[in-house]
Amino acid sequence: MRRALPALVIAFALSAVAFAQPKAVTGPAFEQDTFGKLPPTKDKNGKETPGPIVTRYTLVNKNGMVVKCIEYGAIITEIHVPDKSGKTADVALGFDTLADYLKGHPYFGANAGRCANRIANGKFTLDGKEYKLAPNDKPHSLHGGKEGFDKKFWRGEPMLTATGPSVKFTYTSPDGEEGYPGRLSVTMSYTLTDNNEIVIDYRATTDKPTVCNLAHHSYFNLAGHNAGDIKGHELTIAAKHYTPGDETLIPTGKIEPVAGTPFDFTKAKPMGRDLEKAGGKPVGFDLNYVLDKGQTARPELAARVVEPKSGRVMEVLTTEPGLQFYTGNFLDGSNKGKGGAVYRQYNGFCLEAQKFPDSVNKPEWKDKSNVVLRPGETYKQTTIYQFSVVK
Ligand code: GLA
Repeated sequence: MRRALPALVIAFALSAVAFAQPKAVTGPAFEQDTFGKLPPTKDKNGKETPGPIVTRYTLVNKNGMVVKCIEYGAIITEIHVPDKSGKTADVALGFDTLADYLKGHPYFGANAGRCANRIANGKFTLDGKEYKLAPNDKPHSLHGGKEGFDKKFWRGEPMLTATGPSVKFTYTSPDGEEGYPGRLSVTMSYTLTDNNEIVIDYRATTDKPTVCNLAHHSYFNLAGHNAGDIKGHELTIAAKHYTPGDETLIPTGKIEPVAGTPFDFTKAKPMGRDLEKAGGKPVGFDLNYVLDKGQTARPELAARVVEPKSGRVMEVLTTEPGLQFYTGNFLDGSNKGKGGAVYRQYNGFCLEAQKFPDSVNKPEWKDKSNVVLRPGETYKQTTIYQFSVVK
């Protein structure tokens, strides 16, 4: 903390310069403001505690790329990236106000945890003991339960690192929260580099054996968050295999080749081309890819997306063995987004780096996708979303 202080002073001095003269941004900077205030909470005796102020952090790099994130859910609310002619657009779906986030939404820009994706029938057995979770995606548990990490207050701490402006967020999940055993201490950070990368780092430790699988859940539309459907985006995924699932998206446990299926993105293909053939209820892509590289100590290339009209490119690099590709099938226009945008089906896509869905109930995946975390171990994940352009 002591070392972060001088950096903070430098950062705010820089941000003052950068924001007074937006056209003259020459170096990394950040700014912070108040995004809103969370409602008060009551304990079991009815004693009220006022809700915390939610700070928003704005990170800027030398190319004019801007990322905004807030202490509620450690959510990324905005990502402004230049296109091939240098014109910037916000490519992340989200809202303008805290009240909109509090109304409920499908994990826009959030971090899913303590266990991202589905746990079949909301239960698992660990060291011989059965644990029951909230069936918030009936009958399964999804993205950490009724009140997952996406709905928690994460204390933010801005830092100027060697690679760029960064915000570190901290959340401690109490023992038994959402039915999970163990007190899980989580830190995560977003760093914006001058290579137009958003570097996401997660670390977690526990005091009892538990389950930990964190995932960043931004919805992207590289033509702009309000630009309509994403069907023309060309996607490549570095995965020759996937984990087929049942109708309710619980994997069967098999790992099958994508070759000859609509799920084959080993070569660049528009997201819309085989979307109908992907099936599902509702129709669209919503599946986990088994990345060829497997779990790695350092982030490696997992996927690349090109939006041909704007020329914007996004690459995903990760340490994780799995990548959930989701085409916003459940979006139905009910979420009124930034600037009045209406987010309809297929208006955004997610590439969520994580361990495979329902891994805790799939002992056969233990060596490929282990979600059990024990005292003394540290859960670590690094995932990078890197933006560039093709002419
Ligand atoms: C994940 C899931 C989807 C859906 C979204 C949130 O991507 O795989 O099925 O639940 O989260 O709506």
